[in-house]
Amino acid sequence: MDNTPIHPAAVSRRRLLAGGALTVGGALAGAGIGAAAATDGSGGARDLGEARRQEAAYGVQKIPFHGRHQAGIATPAQAHAVFLGFELADGVDRAALGRMMRLLTDDAARLTQGKAALADTEAELAALPARLTVTFGFGPGLFKAAGLEDQRPASLAPLPRFPIDRLQDRWSGGDLLVQICADDPLTVAHAQRMLTKDARTFARLRWTQRGFRHGRGIQDDGATQRNLMGQLDGTANPAPGGDVFTKAVWTDAGPDWLRGGGTTLVLRRIRMKLETWDAADTKAKEFTVGRRLGTGAPLTGTAETDPPDFDAKDELGFPAISEFAHIRRAHVSDERRRIFRRPYNYDDAPAADGRPDTGLLFASFQRDIGEQFLPIQRNLAASDLLNQWTTPIGSAVFTVPPGCAPGDWIGEPLLG
Ligand code: HEM
Repeated sequence: MDNTPIHPAAVSRRRLLAGGALTVGGALAGAGIGAAAATDGSGGARDLGEARRQEAAYGVQKIPFHGRHQAGIATPAQAHAVFLGFELADGVDRAALGRMMRLLTDDAARLTQGKAALADTEAELAALPARLTVTFGFGPGLFKAAGLEDQRPASLAPLPRFPIDRLQDRWSGGDLLVQICADDPLTVAHAQRMLTKDARTFARLRWTQRGFRHGRGIQDDGATQRNLMGQLDGTANPAPGGDVFTKAVWTDAGPDWLRGGGTTLVLRRIRMKLETWDAADTKAKEFTVGRRLGTGAPLTGTAETDPPDFDAKDELGFPAISEFAHIRRAHVSDERRRIFRRPYNYDDAPAADGRPDTGLLFASFQRDIGEQFLPIQRNLAASDLLNQWTTPIGSAVFTVPPGCAPGDWIGEPLLG
């Protein structure tokens, strides 16, 4: 099986569409794949067939399922996600959990590689994995059900209630998390259906949270996404695969079954009060975060990746980045205490009066919730200007077990 990612071809879709719109339109109508050429306005002929193969290539791209770590964490974020929070059925014990995870692992291993799940009723829908990843997490209740409380990482517990929280049960808690991400919403829906069907005997769905980022191909791979407040969101993240990421994300302490390849996930559903955010002007919005809206640059720099200068003063002698700006409050200099954010936007049906139901599925991966996530969240809860426009309405915590080898299953060292 070839898991080599297919890299975007030399043809840039954007240039093709912008520069040769008329030619492309005509060619699309009249020509078969591989037959047409389009101009890009720079005089170079472009192979339309190649461009169309490239679009199809997004659908067939695969992310390996097996490995030391579960996929869907260091994996560059796909365009669509659904987070499923399950509650275990009464009487589900360690042996039953083992059966469930064996089954779900098998589904995930097949679907992520473009193969139908066993007893897949719509096998055709599995053919385009579109970088599908399925990531499993275990909530505090799973350890209790399995009689394995002594194997639960110490800080895996519901977060303390912060004064800013307005948590709703329907978005909180959960014994088992299934995070499904892909570049195609149809792929996500199919995987969701198969996994939910196979989990049904063991667990019931407590919540379903759907999210999205920019569509694949809309901007360069690796560019920072924007959230629904319009901000570039993810700039100061540790780079996946890098040294800081490794130190911050993969667990190197705690129970043996988790060490080396595992991590933890905090999922916070954070509503954005866009109805009042819309009333703030650009200056106020930038002051709130400490970065510019257009470029994402810190207020003390000009480019997105310029490091913020937290000591700089403005012409009146005040801190150039406010004491209460989001990036100052959230910043930690100790590499081991950083977190890795992999958030998705949500935009559900507005209220009857038109008020948006919009926000962020704030997904944060870190070695240890108590050492990393909690101090940052405490800092933000105490005095982050952004709090005026954001409200946490859901909260859930999970341990994310290491990945597994072919033939093994996720969680086997704990539950097997
Ligand atoms: C709806 C809620 C939130 C929004 C809209 C938001 C938005 C942003 C934006 C625009 C940035 C600057 C660009 C970047 O580095 O990504 C940022 C940075 C950051 N945010 Fe948030 N954020 C939210 C919630 C949170 C929460 C709940 C946490 C953690 C508890 C958090 C932790 C961070 C961290 C660690 C940084 C990087 C700070 C640095 O070192 O420069 N954010 N966020």
